[in-house]
Amino acid sequence: MSKSGAIASKSTSPSDGQPNSQPDSQPVSVENQLKKPRGLTLFRRLEWVLSPVTYLERTKTDTPDFFEEDTLGFGTGSTVITSHPEAMQYILTRDRTTFSAPGDFNRILSPFLGTQSVIMLSDQQHKVRRQLLTPAFHGERLTVYGQLICDLTKELAGALPKNQPLPIRQLTQKISLQVISQIVFGFTDGPRSKEIMATLAAAADSVGSPASAALLFFDGLQRDLGPWSPWGKFLRKRQKIDDLVYAEIRDRAAEIEKDGGKANSERTDILSMLMASRTEDGEALSEQELRDELMALLFAGHETTASAMAWAMYWIHQLPDVKEKLLAELDQLGPEADPMAIAQLPYLTAVCKEVLRRSPVAMFTFPRTAQEPVDLMGYRFPAETTFLGCIFLTHQREDLYPAPKEFRPERFLESKFSPYEFIPFGAGSRRCVGEALARYEMKLAVASMVANYRFELADQRPENPVRRGVTLTPERGVPMILKGTR
Ligand code: HEM
Repeated sequence: MSKSGAIASKSTSPSDGQPNSQPDSQPVSVENQLKKPRGLTLFRRLEWVLSPVTYLERTKTDTPDFFEEDTLGFGTGSTVITSHPEAMQYILTRDRTTFSAPGDFNRILSPFLGTQSVIMLSDQQHKVRRQLLTPAFHGERLTVYGQLICDLTKELAGALPKNQPLPIRQLTQKISLQVISQIVFGFTDGPRSKEIMATLAAAADSVGSPASAALLFFDGLQRDLGPWSPWGKFLRKRQKIDDLVYAEIRDRAAEIEKDGGKANSERTDILSMLMASRTEDGEALSEQELRDELMALLFAGHETTASAMAWAMYWIHQLPDVKEKLLAELDQLGPEADPMAIAQLPYLTAVCKEVLRRSPVAMFTFPRTAQEPVDLMGYRFPAETTFLGCIFLTHQREDLYPAPKEFRPERFLESKFSPYEFIPFGAGSRRCVGEALARYEMKLAVASMVANYRFELADQRPENPVRRGVTLTPERGVPMILKGTR
């Protein structure tokens, strides 16, 4: 990739059926080369880390559809960001052929997730690991988790102190942590699992504010200067989680050994499944591979969903009309509704989609790198160009979502959006493994909170999205007051 500023030139020849909005031969034109957002590199990098939404909003008018950036922390060269659905579709449907989706670009996450999880693997290893994990988050397995999600939500919400303002994200984080812990380990109530969950939440909090997220983006800050230094604190929490996770892995291995080398076939949790799996050469996963995969699923599986559910509670309680329509729909099903019936409710589904559109948790898809020169929408990109799909900006496009700042679930009842127009979970070979679980969990937990309890917003000021690690979350965590049951 050229590092000398603009890397794309106006395409001079459209190639075999690739999208190209101006198919006639065009001279290479400087005006049509990609721009970077305004500002000095260091300023842009700081703005990107500390205030990503301001940074992205700024690019909407200056550099719509595509822009080039070298400050985001992916690789060493420039990266091209796109929010155009046609470009997204082009890239994400070819991300095992024309493009590759290398896991090591996600190394910014390696302090948490190590290097051996599905998120970090590439090529064939990535494909095999995904095939192993996917069934645990789909179909029949999902229906098993439905009642658990409803019961857990009711129990945890019911235990909140009444008439006291509390950030609802604390509740939604407890729900999502317990759900993913149950799926990953098969238990939530033992002392070890409680300790794992508490330490995980604390580790996520330690890079939870925009300023502390700088620890992830600026390697130079990753110095262990003792237990009170920011990085030192993080490392000690991680060590504690590792000790607990490795202890669980060893106990399970000892159990298998005791049973004559056979895994307990009644166990359906992911750890048991991963321990029973073998590569083509008959190899079992190493302890480090198991640890990294568990960490990836625990982190990716709870942080994102917790924020999405907190946003849902914010929008529902901010807009009385939305709440009224939702309650009318939920009340028709009655108090003991089947989780699958809840998940199929059209208005609830539209509300959850609009939450993920208006307040997306993931700003970007993971990176995809061109393996050859690519002609795309009138631009020619050299081989090795790295692309990021900007979910945040796609969901803010006026041409797709008129008045995009308005929260209007009806959009999803009135129109259908393609998977590249509404793309909260990415697409292609790295599409979110937990998408079906996240959608299901979000609907069931939100329905259980709203149908069974009377919550009110404790603070009428608007909630703004701020960085939490590599995701966006409501700035104040949505302070709410539990008034009682319904
Ligand atoms: C609202 C909740 C969630 C959102 C918005 C979200 C979003 C995303 C996005 C945008 C990607 C990258 C996709 C791409 O590059 O095309 C991703 C990947 C991933 N997500 Fe999620 N996610 C959520 C919940 C979950 C849950 C519950 C799990 C639990 C297992 C999970 C596990 C993963 C994993 C393992 C990957 C990496 C997939 C790969 O590299 O092949 N996510 N997610």
